[in-house]
Amino acid sequence: MRFTTNSIGRKILMAVSGLFMVLFVIVHLLGNSSIFAGPDGINAYAEKLHGLGPFVWASRLFMLAMLGIHVLFGILVTLDNWSAKPDRYKVKKMLKASFASETMIWTGALLLAFIVYHLLQFTFRVTPDVVLGNDAKGRFDVFSMVAASFRFTPIVLIYVAAMVTLFLHLSHGIQSLFQSIGWNNDKTLPTYTRLGKVLAVVFLLGYSAIPVLLLSGILTK
Ligand code: HEM
Repeated sequence: MRFTTNSIGRKILMAVSGLFMVLFVIVHLLGNSSIFAGPDGINAYAEKLHGLGPFVWASRLFMLAMLGIHVLFGILVTLDNWSAKPDRYKVKKMLKASFASETMIWTGALLLAFIVYHLLQFTFRVTPDVVLGNDAKGRFDVFSMVAASFRFTPIVLIYVAAMVTLFLHLSHGIQSLFQSIGWNNDKTLPTYTRLGKVLAVVFLLGYSAIPVLLLSGILTK
């Protein structure tokens, strides 16, 4: 109990849950990249993934728990920082806080909204743009579902804006998680900072490419 009420314990919980979510974002991007191999690529990938049955459900529940912990303690850590306001400004000046680090709670809130929308769209498949069907091999046609939704410019703009938000959140978040877990020292910190920025750029470009290439007609069946 003390672990969750003390500020270092809270930061470690945020860092560990954040690390698992970053790992998910890496795996999801690799999986989504199968779309560049056309319908056969992503439909085969989705079918294999769903075939894993109980493992899929266990990882879904685990990731939901990680998200819950990250959101809850993110709010608590931010409220703590805000209630220590006079110090906050001193520290802010000393550390030259970046735009990304100062807006973590807001970029986090926007990402949470995006995740809810994204799940309603492609996991629960209940938003009005969603087109359902099977491909010639009788598999669920993930390619056509995604391509049909990304024919709409406003949806593509929502995705690109969400990916810019993810970029901001992770360009600070990844280096911060190494600090909270204590996997850094004066020598390695610049390396982790760079790694965080590089990964954030890879996510921005990799994820944005899918809706943009589908909308522009460069990526087709
Ligand atoms: C262009 C970008 C993206 C595309 C095309 C995409 C595509 C998809 C698709 C097709 C699914 C449904 C998978 C299935 O049921 O077979 C899915 C699920 C999901 N996506 Fe994405 N995604 C994108 C970006 C993201 C990002 C940036 C995040 C996280 C920040 C994310 C988080 C999730 C989650 C949590 C699920 C639920 C996984 C599950 O059903 O177990 N996605 N995505």
